[in-house]
Amino acid sequence: MNYCVVGLQWGDEGKGKVVDILAENSDIVVRYAGGANAGHTVTVAEERFALHLMPSGAVRPGTACVIGNGVVVDPEVLVGEIEGLARRGITMEGRLFISENAHVVLDYHKQEDRLREEALGKNKIGTTARGIGPCYADKVGRSFAIRMADWRDMDGLHDKLRQVADYKSRIFRALYNAEPVDAEGIFEKCKMYRETLLRCVCNTTRYLHEAIEQGKNVLFEGAQGSLLDLDHGTFPFVTSSNASSLGMGAGCGVPMKLIDSFIGLVKAYSTRVGSGPFPTEQDNEIGHRIREKGHEYGTTTGRPRRCGWFDAVAVAYSARIGGIDEIAMMHLDTLAGMPELKVCRAYRIDGRETTFFPCDAEELSRVECVYETVSGWNEDISSISQWEDLPVETRRYIELIEGLVKTPITILGVGPRRSQAIFRNQV
Ligand code: IMP
Repeated sequence: MNYCVVGLQWGDEGKGKVVDILAENSDIVVRYAGGANAGHTVTVAEERFALHLMPSGAVRPGTACVIGNGVVVDPEVLVGEIEGLARRGITMEGRLFISENAHVVLDYHKQEDRLREEALGKNKIGTTARGIGPCYADKVGRSFAIRMADWRDMDGLHDKLRQVADYKSRIFRALYNAEPVDAEGIFEKCKMYRETLLRCVCNTTRYLHEAIEQGKNVLFEGAQGSLLDLDHGTFPFVTSSNASSLGMGAGCGVPMKLIDSFIGLVKAYSTRVGSGPFPTEQDNEIGHRIREKGHEYGTTTGRPRRCGWFDAVAVAYSARIGGIDEIAMMHLDTLAGMPELKVCRAYRIDGRETTFFPCDAEELSRVECVYETVSGWNEDISSISQWEDLPVETRRYIELIEGLVKTPITILGVGPRRSQAIFRNQV
């Protein structure tokens, strides 16, 4: 079986945990988009792993991990993760494959990300400052892009870095009066990272097709969430890649028709980090309660996440554009103890009611939510493993959402550990 797991909200849906569960029966786990802006947390026994670039399958020793061409690779972060895993007894030797076509995030990308956000002031996107947008912009612009394949020829890389640094320095000075880019310093770091990374660089498209032909099970792991998709998300408050499942084919060279099931990930409520419209946001005691109980602070930046009610209009949209077959709902345990819960079932825009999500940020900022209110539950559900044992209110809440998003919810997360999951086996 080949699965693709993708977030259906604004990221941080708990993909790491689901990927880790599914990785048990997968030979290969593939990242296809995004970069070190992602933060996937996996808890194994009592040990917590926070991964940014490494596919979540890394914590399972027999699983091969692929970083596809659609990912932007920050070598400093990746080498840090390889070394961090090694210190905890997990080696990536012989099982990490990085696309030669993946683009490389270097210091000047992070510098540009910060400078641009500072200059935008109140209009900033609220990026993770990991250099993601500037690196993808260089990829699209082509002339100043550096890919993993460039590390095969260090003299060529040195020349290219000098040229890029000169160009960037002139722009940074003119626009931001910033310090020049240190080409030699960056080159020295590249030489260091090369030792660990170059032996993993290969044609991952070929590797994946051969593996699929041999009947291997492959799991494709999305990063961020569908509502942050560059083309289909709440532009301009999005990330710079196709974070929905639509980015999968382009991001690793494997067509969507080879996927047996697209699994959409949601949290039992909504969160968002950074700027941008968020119709169901609860900037009040309810949001505060969800944040504290759900530990809703960014894995990558530590920023407090904005929290709100479940938005079925938004999730139905993501499920629709992404061809989602089934949904995994995480963090259900976080909602215990709330007397009542609301689910947004429609928007009112300019006096008219609609269930179609307008991804234009301006239009979205004007919508009014139409809520369905249901009773909450008080019981601690974190040790329940069967659907039938869940409180009736919990089941009603899930069934309500299932009806609104028109997709079966087959996996329920009731706590951070691998074992804290309920499988409904509907698909
Ligand atoms: P960037 O990807 O760093 O350029 O940030 C663009 C937007 O995407 C910002 O609103 C970030 O907060 C958001 N974002 C990027 N990565 C993640 C993630 O992994 N989880 C949640 N939000 C993210």
